[in-house]
Amino acid sequence: MQNDDSSAPQYRKLACRVVDITCGQGVTIVEPANLYGCTLEDGVFVGPFVEVQRNAVIGARTRIQSHSFICEKVTIGTDCFIGHGVMFINDLFKDGHPTYDVDAMLKTCIGNHVSIGSNATILPVTICDHTVIGAGAVVTKAIATPGIYAGNPARLIRPL
Ligand SMILES: CC(C)(COP(=O)(O)OP(=O)(O)OC[C@H]1O[C@@H](n2cnc3c(N)ncnc32)[C@H](O)[C@@H]1OP(=O)(O)O)[C@@H](O)C(=O)NCCC(=O)NCCS
Repeated sequence: MQNDDSSAPQYRKLACRVVDITCGQGVTIVEPANLYGCTLEDGVFVGPFVEVQRNAVIGARTRIQSHSFICEKVTIGTDCFIGHGVMFINDLFKDGHPTYDVDAMLKTCIGNHVSIGSNATILPVTICDHTVIGAGAVVTKAIATPGIYAGNPARLIRPL
């Protein structure tokens, strides 16, 4: 669209959108939300102000609470709870800057029945089934034993 007012700010405006998603039965998405190219299995709930990027997969009955960010290459299992403001990461800036090369981005795999507390940050790791991540935790290493983990870096508080 041509903008004839030269004093107007010049920027590209992209609306929040829900596009190209693969959706199971009984999915709820509370807008505004920004979801594109991802898969939401049956019964998934997505709260407002959530972004889910392409190729992310959210397992059946998993709930994503508001303000969370699920990036490309994240897979979340079934019956999980992703709290408010949970951030996933697929780029560690290993070369001293962000990468825009999808092949260089790293995978995260969350098992089934995993609950992640508010404001946690999940680096590209694997988290096993039946794990709880505390509010505000920063998970930097794979978790292979079910339990409650919290802190920065996240450590086992107690087994489940
Ligand atoms: C991590 C969590 C599950 C621990 O619960 P718990 O097993 O009952 O643990 P406790 O409250 O007995 O605390 C045990 C220790 O861990 C510490 N701790 C508890 N939660 C913590 C957290 N999120 N981050 C860092 N340390 C934490 C406590 O201070 C305590 O330390 P201390 O032994 O030095 O006194 C819980 O505190 C939590 O963060 N839940 C997330 C809830 C959430 O985000 N819900 C979202 C929906 S509202």
